[in-house]
Amino acid sequence: MSIRSIDDLEVEGRRVFVRVDFNVPLANGEVADDARIRAALPTLTRLLERGAKLVVASHLGRPKGKPKPEYSLEPVAARLAELLGVDEVVLPDDCIGDGARKVVSDLREGGVVLLENLRFHEGEEKNDPAFAKELAALADVYVNDAFGAAHRAHASVCALPQLMEERAAGLLMQAELAALGRIQDDPPRPYYAVLGGAKVSDKIAVIEALMKRVDGLFIGGAMANTFLAARGFELGKSLVETDKLPLARTLLQKADAAGIAVHLPVDLRVADSTSATSGEVVTVDDVSTDVMALDIGPATVQRYGSILAKAACIFWNGPMGLFENEAFAEGTFGIARQIAASPAFSVVGGGDSVAAVNRTGLASSFGHVSTGGGASLEFLEGRKLPGVEALR
Ligand code: 3PG
Repeated sequence: MSIRSIDDLEVEGRRVFVRVDFNVPLANGEVADDARIRAALPTLTRLLERGAKLVVASHLGRPKGKPKPEYSLEPVAARLAELLGVDEVVLPDDCIGDGARKVVSDLREGGVVLLENLRFHEGEEKNDPAFAKELAALADVYVNDAFGAAHRAHASVCALPQLMEERAAGLLMQAELAALGRIQDDPPRPYYAVLGGAKVSDKIAVIEALMKRVDGLFIGGAMANTFLAARGFELGKSLVETDKLPLARTLLQKADAAGIAVHLPVDLRVADSTSATSGEVVTVDDVSTDVMALDIGPATVQRYGSILAKAACIFWNGPMGLFENEAFAEGTFGIARQIAASPAFSVVGGGDSVAAVNRTGLASSFGHVSTGGGASLEFLEGRKLPGVEALR
């Protein structure tokens, strides 16, 4: 069954429940990165222009089913009001109950309510039908624009849409599915994937899935250490998942058998601790026992970049090093610049790599910057996303 779009819905004067992913980083009580809020604006403004009453809902962090003030969406409501250019986004104390019902029933056309954090109730993560029913009572129509949460079988993305007669995907959800669908189903070739991050164990399923589709894999981040160790290099104090060495060897053998090149770093930026203020570049066969690898080196960036320059399609997930520390950010930023400069259709997903792309100011040079980390990986693993299936 196909998925409807917001333009297929009659929304004038109606209460539209819009599930968004406003799980954004906060600092000092303010939104530190509003990219996910901005990404939902096209859907919200289109609905407002068409006279809808908006009941916007999101989770924030992992409060584990209990109200916790540090996970309140209050700073998000303030930022959303600014970005929408409205006087106020009303935030009831709770996402369900009398207070929420009253605020929603007072809504006028063009008005916006942001419900308090859905995960303040256990029912959200349990996909509880009773909790979903309470949410359903707040709206006439349902829209899901929370691609970042589509891999979670939670009440607001799963049980709730099933209770609503009219449901549709928001514009962001559609754009995400179109971009990821393109690289999954019919990628222009050559198609390369760049994977980073700390652990091989987090990426096994996606590596196995990508090995069946890509023309080459480029590995960076601490994850590369485990692969380098599997190939026999000594990595000093570097983070290596020793229990995953057999798995890394098997993955490399499978790639060899399939004729897929797995590119590993040729040089690394090393230091004696993660808080070091500078690092030294060494080749992978020259890591001494008292240092750890914290970034890929310049020769690796150049080598990866020269092949990526000839790509027709690139997927990137995960930083190439400890980029939060400026001394070890150059590998990640260098790869961001190389991908941005490539004429390929490029998709970047995952909180850290997207943050790095935004910091380089090059987001507009990417084909698509996904708001989904886990969701984009599960999509590329070929898994059905519960939040998408529930819209059919
Ligand atoms: C994300 O940030 O990837 C999504 O908002 C999902 O959050 P979760 O991993 O806490 O479910």
